[in-house]
Amino acid sequence: MFSRKNLLTVLSLLLVAAFALTACAAPAPQAQPAQAPAAPAATEAPAKPAGGADKLEVFSWWTSGGEAAALDTLFATFKKLSPNTEIINATVAGGGGSAARGVLQTRLAGGDPPDTWQIHPGYELLGQYVEGGYVAPITDLYASEKWNDVMPKGLVQLMTKDGEIYGVLAGVHRGNELWYNKKVLDQNGITVGATMTPDEFFQAADKLKAAGITPLCVGDSGIWASAQLFENTLLGIIGPDKYMGLWNGSVAFDDPDVKKGMETYGKMLEYQNADHSALSWDQAIKKLMEGSCVFSSMGDWAYGEFVNAKLKDNEDFGWVSHPGTAGAFMIVADGFPLAKNAPHKEQAINWLKAVGSKEGQEAFNPLKGSIPARTDADRSKFGPYHNWSMDSFAKDSLVPSVVHGSAAPAAFQQALNDAVTSFIVDKNVDNFAKALVTAAKASNISK
Ligand code: GAL
Repeated sequence: MFSRKNLLTVLSLLLVAAFALTACAAPAPQAQPAQAPAAPAATEAPAKPAGGADKLEVFSWWTSGGEAAALDTLFATFKKLSPNTEIINATVAGGGGSAARGVLQTRLAGGDPPDTWQIHPGYELLGQYVEGGYVAPITDLYASEKWNDVMPKGLVQLMTKDGEIYGVLAGVHRGNELWYNKKVLDQNGITVGATMTPDEFFQAADKLKAAGITPLCVGDSGIWASAQLFENTLLGIIGPDKYMGLWNGSVAFDDPDVKKGMETYGKMLEYQNADHSALSWDQAIKKLMEGSCVFSSMGDWAYGEFVNAKLKDNEDFGWVSHPGTAGAFMIVADGFPLAKNAPHKEQAINWLKAVGSKEGQEAFNPLKGSIPARTDADRSKFGPYHNWSMDSFAKDSLVPSVVHGSAAPAAFQQALNDAVTSFIVDKNVDNFAKALVTAAKASNISK
């Protein structure tokens, strides 16, 4: 099993191997550092708007009710360090960064970076932004802010290249949650225990269906949400060891167990709401709250929506690990880097300090649904869900999400989205497996 300790080893090996391979095979980054506009000379003051007030541009896809409320707390923490700075909240809506990442890439390639932006550790940060030459190291901040003592080493490792650290985490989401409307389950005599198997899920879903209630809430106007339902289902069927094997090439995407994961995912689709493709992930969670569907497999940013709607843990809504995934924690960690040539470098550094601060993390995470990345956060400031997730993080197998950029290169992530899109239409497991086998080869995940 992959515990917190060996996540570091496994993923760093994966990343080292991947970089070695991509050095020969991957397409060149869209803009090489040498082609980017020259950095201002060290002595040159950062551009300041008229009136002397400074600015800070933060780019993210945090636009849902819960996400925006949580982001505001980080802005408030930052304002304590930089009271006179005007914050430019540059958001591009679309969960999982599905729309934002393209917009960001265009800006970076065009030499127009925001000061800082939302990143996931692993491939997304290291493969896209560090390799692309778009970010500056912040290793010194780890020393001056004493983050080396409080940030989990395995996660910092996923933001480190050649001894330099390139990001600071705001929080760590657990991606493999199954949320439910507790009142509707109670009304239908369905009890969810501490864990749930896929069979138990299907029994509950059949009971709901027979009562005329849609069992599964999905909002995949951004296809990543369906890819996440697949990722979670696959983890539940093949378990964390085999799941890790997918990313180091030791398990093939047409392995019989992986195909079983695909079949199980196909079965889940029979229980989803008919309007899934018209809804965003948070609209699907809203439907769950209203009771027009009951379960949703979604990372714990969904918790932020429940909190934002003033609903109560274990009364209005409940959660359990996605069927079969108890004992595993699917990591979806959020962080921020410092742009190379940041237009407002001094403010960007204050932003990173706010993000990595104890105060910032204790204010942000209760609203966001993630747990603090810092290990010294005060647990009493967090409710039942967060304490449950903190326990899981401490004892369970930590596995990286492909859908949220950590486990595999962006090209594979895109190929997975495409394969899921096709599978929803044709339900053909062989085609699904073949597409992923081909994509894994193309991304040098497998030979
Ligand atoms: C993830 C991100 C989360 C949340 C989610 C839905 O990629 O890490 O913070 O924003 O997308 O938008």
